[in-house]
Amino acid sequence: MEVVIVQDAKAGGELIAEAIADLLRRKPDALLGVATGSTPLPVYDALTAKVRAGAVDVSRARIAQLDEYVGLPAGHPESYRSTVLRQVVEPLGLSPDAFLGPDGTAEDVQAACEAYDRALAEAGGVDLQILGIGTDGHIGFNEPCSSLASRTRIKTLTEQTRIDNARFFDGDIDQVPHHVITQGIGTILEARHLVLLATGEGKADAVAATVEGPVAALVPASALQLHPHATVVVDEAAASKLKLADYFRHTYANKPSWQGL
Ligand code: GLP
Repeated sequence: MEVVIVQDAKAGGELIAEAIADLLRRKPDALLGVATGSTPLPVYDALTAKVRAGAVDVSRARIAQLDEYVGLPAGHPESYRSTVLRQVVEPLGLSPDAFLGPDGTAEDVQAACEAYDRALAEAGGVDLQILGIGTDGHIGFNEPCSSLASRTRIKTLTEQTRIDNARFFDGDIDQVPHHVITQGIGTILEARHLVLLATGEGKADAVAATVEGPVAALVPASALQLHPHATVVVDEAAASKLKLADYFRHTYANKPSWQGL
């Protein structure tokens, strides 16, 4: 696992957008896994700016969703499908056909989960998966004690996650669904490159447990330690509880430039 400490969220967004641009230069039809939440927005902004400046061609790129609420009506503005279309697919000028996501409105949720795992595999697998992290260490919507081998499935949100996400629902927790579909941790680990971005002091404990704690289902993001190509990008505030922060700074400062992220 590589840990890169950046000055602030904007610098983190720029760094990850450049890694995505590099990937698309090598593989123009790459499948990019995207996360929702506030944290990855600087990544999408920086990537959109590169596209508008002609620095990268995303016209053949494909986008895959990480998770979804269950039971929101189709087209609900806070469904993750609507969110990803608004924040990623439209700004990048991609067609909605270039977009894969689980069906949160399906009557047979289990079948929808299995269908999504199959669709990801048939699309050749995710090349680069962007991840945020919950304050309790969740990735996607894999709450604590999710199996580290889990596949895409339905999960019940913790009260804390519903409180955290109420800000997207007029601050009203009653509007936040209890159930979600999320790529499992086993599914996420199949992506070729995992890039987790965490910013702000509120993520410092979760980041320390992810990077320096044991691999444990209690901290779902710690499963990144099992992946051969995982990058954790954190700002100074989110890095503030890392014991090895100086070591991470040193290794990144001395990294051969050809290596990229
Ligand atoms: C939700 C999403 C996660 C995201 C997390 C953190 O739970 N399912 O993918 O990482 O929120 O969101 P934020 O970046 O807004 O803190």
